[in-house]
Amino acid sequence: MSPVTLETDRFVHGAWGEAAHDLEWHPGRPLNIGWHCSDRLCRLGLGEKPALLWEDHQGNARRYTFDDLRVLTNTMAEYLRHAAGLHPGERICLFLDRVPELYFGFLAILKMGGIAQPLFSAFGDDSLWTRLDNAGTAAVVTQRKHLGKVRRARERLPELRAVIVVDAGDLALAPGELALDLERLPRVERFAGHATEAEAPSVLHYTSGTTGQPKGAQHVHLSVLGQYLTARRVLDLRPDDVYWCNADPGWVTGTSYGIIGPWANGITQAVLDAGFQSDRWYAFLEKYRVTVWYSAPTAIRLLMRDGSELARRYDLSALRHLASVGEPLNPEAVVWSRETFGRPFHDTYWQTETGSIVVANLPGMEVKPGSMGKPFPGVTATVVDPQSGEPVGQPGRAGLLALRPDFPSIIRSYWRNPEAFAAKFRNGWYLTGDRASIDGDGYFWFVGRDDDVINTGGHLVGPFEIESAMLEHPAVAESAAVAKPDPVNMEVVKAFVVLKPGREVDDELELEIMNTLRKRLSPLAMPQEIAFVPSLPKTRSGKIMRRVLRAQEWGEPVGDLSTMMED
Ligand code: WT7
Repeated sequence: MSPVTLETDRFVHGAWGEAAHDLEWHPGRPLNIGWHCSDRLCRLGLGEKPALLWEDHQGNARRYTFDDLRVLTNTMAEYLRHAAGLHPGERICLFLDRVPELYFGFLAILKMGGIAQPLFSAFGDDSLWTRLDNAGTAAVVTQRKHLGKVRRARERLPELRAVIVVDAGDLALAPGELALDLERLPRVERFAGHATEAEAPSVLHYTSGTTGQPKGAQHVHLSVLGQYLTARRVLDLRPDDVYWCNADPGWVTGTSYGIIGPWANGITQAVLDAGFQSDRWYAFLEKYRVTVWYSAPTAIRLLMRDGSELARRYDLSALRHLASVGEPLNPEAVVWSRETFGRPFHDTYWQTETGSIVVANLPGMEVKPGSMGKPFPGVTATVVDPQSGEPVGQPGRAGLLALRPDFPSIIRSYWRNPEAFAAKFRNGWYLTGDRASIDGDGYFWFVGRDDDVINTGGHLVGPFEIESAMLEHPAVAESAAVAKPDPVNMEVVKAFVVLKPGREVDDELELEIMNTLRKRLSPLAMPQEIAFVPSLPKTRSGKIMRRVLRAQEWGEPVGDLSTMMED
């Protein structure tokens, strides 16, 4: 039986009833995110309103209305279904930079009943292959510049039938590779294929845990109720807003709040397909007169490093609401943003698994700098004692942050990994894997993660993935990856390596190991430092104790080693 308990009544009269009402959905009726984010808005008369204001790093700009969104996603859905021969329920990966096809492709996959699997285009060979292999992906939509990686992955992926290239031009394609030129395809006015069940799988987002390879968090179309309502209430979106979410859709923030939430509300989104650069970002905010901005603490710390002076050279007067997610938002960042932008960043907390914001500083609520805020109405959150699994019930006492798994966007399963999914639940609570406390006013305070996952610049990196990649170098006998403190990214990866007997440490070897990793992982997962050590601390049964290494890096007490040694 699924641990997720959704009572239909809550979507009629309860907290999510407002979303169901606004989206004109009733329990038992079909629901499709792709249709809701495009066709429905045209029906409401918003067809001519800009949906996407897109710009790349070279300054090329494009503008699409909701009617363009409707027709282009229809066209792409038709293509995927009929030209590429893909079926509802199949996993279709988007391996693209933030080009318009990424946004259209996401909605098109949902329209034709497929499961969208967005992956960060900077992933190296192993990171890409592991996720495609686990998902049994049927097709990858990509660009020429990433085709080499996809081709190499495909050699070891029997289930991958089609590779679709959105900018193939005159490139010679191999069998099973298709060129998709969206602008040249006949425009499809009507696409019949959006009658998905509300509980039909929609999106598969891979997230890292401590053990094993990354897990695919599987969401459903019903999640749109959560994304719609939280985008409206927490991000304070209003009809005239120009909204910017600077996250890449390879991560859940970039889909839940970079596609679904805002577009389900009929909001104009600005997208910048370029990496971080303070002046470039300010110029973008100014040019598009962005009113609501959803960002992350690492980006804010980078902006802080470049100073308020730089910000003042731009006209940022359109900014009305700022929110942040992904890591602890330090109080200094809130104070700095008040001084620099005239308004604070509002912290929000959630995860890949929750699909939408669960704890937040709502607009108008008193912000306690350093706190994540309070549970979103409709979400029941608490802090449970790690031993008893029951709420600690005492203000200020830290424990495990837990949620009732009864809101629309909560994960339904980990793809092909029901054991890991079941392990996330206890006494009817979903355990987030984070530690937190609740103060006397009901504000939640983040304490830290309850596992060895490394949060670098808001991105979770699993130590296992890095360690496996390191072991691929012939000189490496054992390895461990842990978080080390960093002023900008909060945490960065530090690797410990034990070499095979007879191998000596030298600069060249270190470089070789780094290159092994670079090819296989994401740039985000790259260690900032490799320490060569004679041995690693282990439990009696031989498991590496990352916690000991981590405590050393943070100058924290190592704790009771005798109990840790037991496993
Ligand atoms: C983990 C989830 C969905 C947002 C993008 C990341 C950490 C998230 C906060 C916050 C402190 C936070 C937690 C969480 N985290 N928001 N406001 N304060 N920590 O999604 O990759 O699944 O990461 O990010 O540790 O469990 P994700």
